[in-house]
Amino acid sequence: MDIIIRADAQEVGKEAAAVMAPFIKQGRTIGLATGSSPLTTYRELIRMYESGELTFKTIQAFLLDEYVGLARDDKNSYFRTIRDEFTAHVDFVDANVHSPDSTDPDPYHAAALYEQKIIDTGVAIQLLGVGVNGHIGFNEPTSALQGPTKVQALHPQTIKDNARFFNDCLEDVPTHAMTQGLGTITRAENIIMVATGEAKADAIHRIVEGPLTALCPGSVLQLHANVTLVVDEAAASRLEHADYYRTMEQIRLR
Ligand code: F6R
Repeated sequence: MDIIIRADAQEVGKEAAAVMAPFIKQGRTIGLATGSSPLTTYRELIRMYESGELTFKTIQAFLLDEYVGLARDDKNSYFRTIRDEFTAHVDFVDANVHSPDSTDPDPYHAAALYEQKIIDTGVAIQLLGVGVNGHIGFNEPTSALQGPTKVQALHPQTIKDNARFFNDCLEDVPTHAMTQGLGTITRAENIIMVATGEAKADAIHRIVEGPLTALCPGSVLQLHANVTLVVDEAAASRLEHADYYRTMEQIRLR
């Protein structure tokens, strides 16, 4: 795992965008995540688009996850969120942004179709955030480390955490989501994970230095040959070997 420690969220975004840019320039397929962590990366990619460095005209993208039951244009759908925060600000074609079909009356069928579409297309680089408990996508602790796209019942805590987007009304928060599985995610040729803030420090420590365990789903990245982890000082604060990672970054061939 290549570990890059930067001062703050802005610098993390710049670094992550720089890692993704060559794949976008080559027209390769990318994987996108929602949440607050990737926002500075999206901002930097938008800046690169505006300055003429990048175009997304022919790029295909796969979203990590989506709520079951929310149509694509619902203001809380992950498709809509990524559209509002990123893809609508560049020349992405909506039809090239793929997400699980959250309105399929059979979400298990929709999950299987999505898995196949990702297998058929292939993802060159997948952008990831991480939850405080080490989750990636909606793969909560105990998720199968090699599992496919699946339907996930949301933990009551996740429903509570997400209620803020639904006028604090617990009943309005979907009870299920579809998510790329850990096996799906790690099939991407390259993975870039971003994390910022003290709240993520424990998860980052467990992902980098802890044992491989389904109790910390992000630890599955230890099995992947091309992972770049970009964190700020706060998220790196519990890494026991931070000096070693800083040295490795200095001497790494670019
Ligand atoms: C997003 C996703 C989640 C988030 C994670 C961190 O598509 O699947 O795993 O990456 O919950 O969320 P933030 O970045 O908001 O702290």
